[in-house]
Amino acid sequence: MNNNAKLEPFDMVLFGATGDLAMRKLVRALYRRAIAGQIPAGSKIIGLARADLTREQYLGEVRSALEKYCKSGEITEQQWDFFASLVTYLRVDATVSSDFAALSKELEGRENLVRVIFLSMAPSLFTAVCANLASARLVTPKSRVVLEKPLGQDRASAERINALVGSIFEEKQIFRIDHYLGKETVQNLIALRFGNALFEPLWRRGRISHVQITVAEQVGAEGRGEFYDQTGALRDMVQNHMLQLLCIIAMEPPAMSLADAVRDEKLKVLRALRPIVDGDVQTKTVRGQYRAGASGGKPVVGYLEEPGVPPDSRTETFVALKAEIENWRWAGVPFYLRTGKRLQEQMAEIVVTFERVPHFIFESGRQPAPNQLVIRLQPDEGVTLTILSKAPGEIMRLKPVNLGLHFSDTYKEKALDAYERLITDVVKGNLTLFMRRDELDAAWAWIDPIREGWLQSDEPPKPYTAGSWGPAASSALIERDDFSWHGEV
Ligand code: BG6
Repeated sequence: MNNNAKLEPFDMVLFGATGDLAMRKLVRALYRRAIAGQIPAGSKIIGLARADLTREQYLGEVRSALEKYCKSGEITEQQWDFFASLVTYLRVDATVSSDFAALSKELEGRENLVRVIFLSMAPSLFTAVCANLASARLVTPKSRVVLEKPLGQDRASAERINALVGSIFEEKQIFRIDHYLGKETVQNLIALRFGNALFEPLWRRGRISHVQITVAEQVGAEGRGEFYDQTGALRDMVQNHMLQLLCIIAMEPPAMSLADAVRDEKLKVLRALRPIVDGDVQTKTVRGQYRAGASGGKPVVGYLEEPGVPPDSRTETFVALKAEIENWRWAGVPFYLRTGKRLQEQMAEIVVTFERVPHFIFESGRQPAPNQLVIRLQPDEGVTLTILSKAPGEIMRLKPVNLGLHFSDTYKEKALDAYERLITDVVKGNLTLFMRRDELDAAWAWIDPIREGWLQSDEPPKPYTAGSWGPAASSALIERDDFSWHGEV
């Protein structure tokens, strides 16, 4: 099926329709799929929020968001008119059951269509919305609910949300979104591992010395100070995006690409993670918080000066940690994870470093650099394999060189944005790239003791200057094992 195969008409019920995520990513994803011909006339996109807006006013907001976040030339009047014809707006307070009457009216007679209920709102509202949808009899057999992260604050609160949502929707109707799984390069990692015979024999202890996963951001709290301060980097990035990437690198080949086969394998990885508890929290994790510095050449304030952040906040904006997977394939191979705001670069990559050759026959004595496979998720998506080759000249001088694949050079077709891909998967009912309840539970079970260890410690997060690579303790964490972070200068 090509990227643009037409979907059957469906309804998108978008709660939180005026919020940051909806405006930044969701309406753009829907617009792009609509103008690509995938969303047919007869579908409805129903925006719901508390703001007292008319349909015209809401369309005005959508149009401004598209102008801000689409590339120039992406919006033509004809395409906009078609997209706008799909969109309606209803003022709804998700906690007030009588407000759902208008939605019932809008959806009347459309029970046979796929109904996507997208909850782009604070998770504390999930249970109220689901209960109100159920009592208004809006949950049909063809309904699917999409839950945005972070799902809960810890294992217990996630379980409470899952239990309530699970009492209204069947597990196969629940799409827990992690937009990293919708990124093209993440799917390419699956293709690389399971579509080529080349890597499998090397993909294990004895061949791989260690793995690094970095998601570095230049942005700071970005006006989300209040939300971010309740969340922190561990829950915002590690519990979901980073652990999902780790699972895809570490999982066993599933028997098929069906959702449960893939999710079963990811779950086994999460359950095999060695818990980081007690004293290990201090030695295997580093948490940091940015101070004033520079980002992209401009001076920026420190985290504690960001709007909405209490001046004595101990919320971490940076995490580095050493994860270990206790199974036959990975025993003894450390996985180093690092993520933070206000770092030197905006980039995400996975670096697989292979063992050095057992005996180096050349004069220099030691292999100058081990082979590395770098999977770059952003900004310039691609895969690079570093190998040693002889530099031209009389003497045998070996130099690392890169064999590279840049997706933008290789493929003319434009890759779908993560949300475009994931929204169409929801409409098609494909759960492969969404988290199952037990996966989420296993991820929280591993994260909770780290947070507890931090809360019990007297030590605040380590300060780092905005525009750096995080606190010095992050380099020390990996250098203790004789490695260093890839690309850090
Ligand atoms: C979100 C986090 O899930 O991912 C944000 O809440 C973060 O804090 C964002 O900035 C990063 O996503 P991307 O796709 O820009 O790397």
